[in-house]
Amino acid sequence: MPVTIDDAVAVLRAGELVAFPTETVYGLGADASSAEAVKKIYAAKGRPRNHPLIVHVARVDQIGEWAQRMSPAAQRLAGRYWPGPLTLIMKRAPHVNDLITGGQDTIALRVPSHPVAHALLAAFGGGIAAPSANRFGRVSATTAGHVRSEFGDVVRCVLDGGPSDVGIESTIVDVSGEIAALLRPGHITAREIEATLGIALAVPGAASPRAPGMLAKHYAPQTPLMVMEADLLLELAASMTRQGHKVAVLARSARQPLLNGVTWVAAPHDAAGYAHDLYANLRALDIAGCSALLVEQLPLDAAWAAVSDRLMRAAAGSASADAT
Ligand code: TXA
Ligand code: MG
Repeated sequence: MPVTIDDAVAVLRAGELVAFPTETVYGLGADASSAEAVKKIYAAKGRPRNHPLIVHVARVDQIGEWAQRMSPAAQRLAGRYWPGPLTLIMKRAPHVNDLITGGQDTIALRVPSHPVAHALLAAFGGGIAAPSANRFGRVSATTAGHVRSEFGDVVRCVLDGGPSDVGIESTIVDVSGEIAALLRPGHITAREIEATLGIALAVPGAASPRAPGMLAKHYAPQTPLMVMEADLLLELAASMTRQGHKVAVLARSARQPLLNGVTWVAAPHDAAGYAHDLYANLRALDIAGCSALLVEQLPLDAAWAAVSDRLMRAAAGSASADAT
């Protein structure tokens, strides 16, 4: 029987974990007001305790339960992009558990737009702490099936809302200080944020809140992943298959060559489509049993910044990088 919103609310109230869809990626949620429940997130993911979590709420008027105040910049961005794929870092309210904030004086907050996420949050009433629903360092989940393959019986309650629209994690903007800073690029671009605020974003500095989840190695498949330009990719695929290796390719503009032993996925040509399919593509190529996963280089323009960011980290965290 499919999990209903009522089932999921009962599971959250019992202090257990619920995986749920959002417009960005699936989240692994727990009652944000219960330290015992939040601890289960860290245990299930294998995530270090000093990596803070995003608290999700149904409506902007609930922010006051978690943050001290909304700065003018926070109000502007919330007004423009919530509900939606944006996370805002604000000064935390005093009662918020250190397990959520990683002991920092700030908290990450988001009002998601996915109808199932919204229905869950509205019915639950409180905040739901939720990181992406993947094991620590691994590829995020954009379908209920991905969540099940990450966690199996460890997470029994998985709400299925179909594939996530955006496909990559929310844009994170720190609005806790004087000047807003971009901590994680996403579907909502730095340029859009700057246009909304009417000022340039600060480069995160020493004074910015740590976003320890932004490790150089992240979002990583098990197969060694390398990003390269199309000609080199075709040459390498040819020489590897000649030597009897199987090769996985995530192409964009390159045409599939006639080679045995190549598992080829042609990604969408636009940045939004590419992001939508990215994690599903990486997962499919990762289980193809290949010696290498070759990814065709992305365009350099701003629209591709968020996907480029994820691919760079995936390359740094994949098996090849770990072995060296
Ligand atoms: O799209 C998303 O944001 C998804 C969905 C489920 O909402 N969530 C997500 O959570 O990507 P997670 O935990 O995988 O990534 C959250 C990021 C981490 O890099 C974490 O370090 C950062 O947010 N973060 C959380 N609280 C913070 C804080 N107080 N200051 C700075 N960074 C923070
Ligand atoms: Mg994550």
